[in-house]
Amino acid sequence: MTDRISSYPPGFTWGVSTSAYQIEGATAEDGRGASIWDVRCRTQGGVVNGDTGDIACDHYHRMPEDVALMKGLGVDAYRFSVSWPRVMPRGKGAVNDAGLDFYDRLIDRLLESGIEPWLCLYHWDLPQALQDLGGWAARDCAGWYADYAALCARRYGDRVKRWITFNEFSVFTLFGYAIPWAAPGIVDRAQHLRAIHHVNLAHGAGVDVLRDMVPGASIGAIHNRQVVIPETDTPENRAAAALLDEHWNLVFCDPQILGHYPPQTAAAIEPHVQPGDMARIARPVDWFGLNHYGPIFAKADPARTWGYGWGDAPPDSPTHGVGWAIFPDAFRDELLTIQRRYRLPIVVTENGCGGSDTVSPDGRVHDPHRINYLTIYNAAMRDAMAQGADVRGYFVWSLLDNFEWGSGYGQRFGIVHVDFQTLARTPKDSARWYAELIRAAKA
Ligand code: FCB
Repeated sequence: MTDRISSYPPGFTWGVSTSAYQIEGATAEDGRGASIWDVRCRTQGGVVNGDTGDIACDHYHRMPEDVALMKGLGVDAYRFSVSWPRVMPRGKGAVNDAGLDFYDRLIDRLLESGIEPWLCLYHWDLPQALQDLGGWAARDCAGWYADYAALCARRYGDRVKRWITFNEFSVFTLFGYAIPWAAPGIVDRAQHLRAIHHVNLAHGAGVDVLRDMVPGASIGAIHNRQVVIPETDTPENRAAAALLDEHWNLVFCDPQILGHYPPQTAAAIEPHVQPGDMARIARPVDWFGLNHYGPIFAKADPARTWGYGWGDAPPDSPTHGVGWAIFPDAFRDELLTIQRRYRLPIVVTENGCGGSDTVSPDGRVHDPHRINYLTIYNAAMRDAMAQGADVRGYFVWSLLDNFEWGSGYGQRFGIVHVDFQTLARTPKDSARWYAELIRAAKA
């Protein structure tokens, strides 16, 4: 372990990640508008147990305590997202000063604590008022997003230099518009294709706005890339895996960085593309953000929108507490693939492990499964770095147990435990482990 740690490059960034809807709560306070996730939570069957983000971790009121927790960990950076409906309640037009003030206070508190803010503009909580106008399936949404990006750049660009246009493009487009596991829960091939293209246009417009308005901005986008493996090796499963690989791994990275859509999508998306669009999308970024947990096993599923579905990992695969496969080699390989294909510095913006951790009678939260997962995934990252992957930072998902989308509060990914009755925070054993890793890496 010592050898591996000593070879982290100088300036390597250690961080933790969260997102607005998953932690803030205060969904009806200080003028915030509704997001598509507020609506999703109130839709029958939208979220396990009927859980909602109404209170979540109550971070909106407990932000100073949460920043103090981060300071205690010794992290260099905190990646958070701005809630678009908190700062622009109807998604366009009037701005909400009380909402803007909240992020001012957060950013100032982080800087006072020696923690660099990494601001993500979009982590899935589209204002519902924009969904009512068609959401991402409407081309205008790219322009609404650019105006929102400009608002944030103007307001925070004096203090925030690290900017992220979007988190996990393929998750919110695929699960929002084709397989209904996320808001807005639409199932429609054409709307899915339009959403892909319009989100790509929004990304390009966002990069331009940030480049123009924030001197010295370092801009990236976050992609969830995971190798797609056929559940069993049949021609049908191979075809399913190939199309899912395009929708999951390629339809955002390729146009944004290489300037073209992958082959099957290029043909299908053409009716939605206008002259000059690819130049609008492929704007230079400074780094590649990778969120990674494990590989995907795909199978043919003719009942699903695109004929593919999620399969099972081989029966003997190790899994973590929420059933996701543990395959550190796939993480190493993904980092190397990204390096070869996109030739950008890489930041691992999410990696972590879910479970159902509880507070023990000794008052501590023992999570050896998470420490084990983080240890072997960090070792895989070091292997990739030794083989040439230019990895500049690593962020654990997540600082806090939080609202895990369709799974509600049942899946805990935090290195800090949250009691959702009392909202008390208890750093888990993995928080101590992470603090020690950071300390040793910097020694
Ligand atoms: C990622 C999301 C994040 C969280 C983790 C577990 O896909 O970006 O919000 O849900 O998974």
